[in-house]
Amino acid sequence: MSFVKSPVETKVESDVECIALPDGLRLVQSDDGLALVGDEKRYGKPLSVDFVAGKAAHRRRFGGGRGQLVAKACGLAKGVSPSIVDATAGLGRDAFVLASLGAQVLLIERVAAIAALLEDGLKRASRHSDTADIAARMTLRNGDAAQSLAALVASAHFAPQVIHLDPMFPHREKSALVKKEMRLFRELAGDDDDAPRLLEAALDVATHRVVVKRPRKAPPIEGPAPQHTLEGKTSRYDLYVHRSLVR
Ligand SMILES: C[S@@+](CC[C@H](N)C(=O)[O-])C[C@H]1O[C@@H](n2cnc3c(N)ncnc32)[C@H](O)[C@@H]1O
Repeated sequence: MSFVKSPVETKVESDVECIALPDGLRLVQSDDGLALVGDEKRYGKPLSVDFVAGKAAHRRRFGGGRGQLVAKACGLAKGVSPSIVDATAGLGRDAFVLASLGAQVLLIERVAAIAALLEDGLKRASRHSDTADIAARMTLRNGDAAQSLAALVASAHFAPQVIHLDPMFPHREKSALVKKEMRLFRELAGDDDDAPRLLEAALDVATHRVVVKRPRKAPPIEGPAPQHTLEGKTSRYDLYVHRSLVR
């Protein structure tokens, strides 16, 4: 879906009118925020990013803190809060968890429409007292991390201690509801077939470790073998370690 992917790295200050979208999809601004809207029968409910309420709020309060798999994989531990690049930001769920646990997070998303939803979610999070401190730890860039990761990181003056990757993987969601949401998301993001190139870029740029989220039974991304794996109920993290985060 190259026509919706931004070819150059930019700070996100979206002019939503100018974002090209596949036929049948629209970005709609309302009092509730920005939403991606398509035919409900085909795509389900509109897609938007809400860090303040709903699932994000529930996970922030009851999600299990630094015991969560993503936190362990990224090396968050007592007294250790690395700076983390989420180079496949998507709807920012993992990035928000990491930032809510105290990490500085640079979010990189290459699909302009998804980056616009993220930007809108971050703006609203920064205005709410429950989430303002968390949003202040999150920086967003719209660009392709497989092509220009080092430049994107430099443009944000960010220390890339840990790079988190969660590229799209075919058919990993089961429920019909999620399938519909995924259909909308997939329509925009495509299949992320260039994940091996993204891994290579991440291994070049990360100073301490690269972590890759995979479905539990999926093979690792093509390339060097991970040194460690952490397994959860449905997903797995492959860890590529350059050096320890603990001084
Ligand atoms: C499975 S989703 C990530 C979901 C995310 N972890 C979350 O918690 O919401 C993958 C996302 O990564 C983005 N992506 C894939 N390859 C990328 C790249 N090379 N540079 C930037 N974004 C990329 C896709 O556009 C898609 O939005």
